[in-house]
Amino acid sequence: MAIVSVRDLHREYQQGNLTVRALNGVSLDIEPGEFTVLMGSSGSGKTTLLNCMGALDHPTSGTVTVDGTDLASLSEGQLSDLRLTKLGFVFQAYNLVPVLTAYENAEFVLLLQGVPSAQRRERVLQTLDAVGLKELATRRPAELSGGQQQRVAVARAIAGKPALVLADEPTANLDSKTGHALIDLMRGLNEDHGITFVFATHDPKVMDAAKRIVKMEDGKILEDVRR
Ligand SMILES: Nc1ncnc2c1ncn2[C@@H]1O[C@H](COP(=O)(O)OP(=O)(O)O)[C@@H](O)[C@H]1O
Ligand SMILES: [Mg+2]
Repeated sequence: MAIVSVRDLHREYQQGNLTVRALNGVSLDIEPGEFTVLMGSSGSGKTTLLNCMGALDHPTSGTVTVDGTDLASLSEGQLSDLRLTKLGFVFQAYNLVPVLTAYENAEFVLLLQGVPSAQRRERVLQTLDAVGLKELATRRPAELSGGQQQRVAVARAIAGKPALVLADEPTANLDSKTGHALIDLMRGLNEDHGITFVFATHDPKVMDAAKRIVKMEDGKILEDVRR
């Protein structure tokens, strides 16, 4: 069964008296274990699609099903539960809590999930190790480089063992070497731990790592290639 199924999705935004069709009839299935890149120029609808898949935005019409559940049938409380237990997010701007250490940022989701403390500690240490940050666990975001901060964001996204990680332009604020290292890291987590990733980018260099490339333009899918 697909982790996420999107059917004939439309999302319209009102800009003054202009209607912008951010998504204009998108259908897409994400299967377990996939490593999918959403490509497309700025404004093509990538963020809107990720936000709809991640229950952060409501479509104008069409359906999003996560793990067999139609998001439209859930209350706001149930949606936030679903985000907490089934999804991980990595954003362009890292979005770490500045007063918390790398360890505490990664632990945050597990606290919200109610994971008992011994198990929490083991899971956070494993996760920081997986992203190569075990030695930097006690640093706060301001004491880390951009690449290291984004690794903390990846650790936070995967610590709760989500079915799917959604990453929106995760390398946009990184130089190309650091960006590549981050993509390699995510690809490794995909290979070694079976974590399913969908990430948006407009950087063609990122395509090399993708197992599946979905090309978007004007709110539509132009091309969908597995390799
Ligand atoms: N909150 C919003 N209000 C109005 N228009 C929006 C909003 N979010 C996105 N849009 C518009 O929807 C289109 C798609 O945007 P977006 O999904 O952010 O594309 P991408 O991530 O590919 O750059 C753009 O034309 C953008 O201006
Ligand atoms: Mg975007």
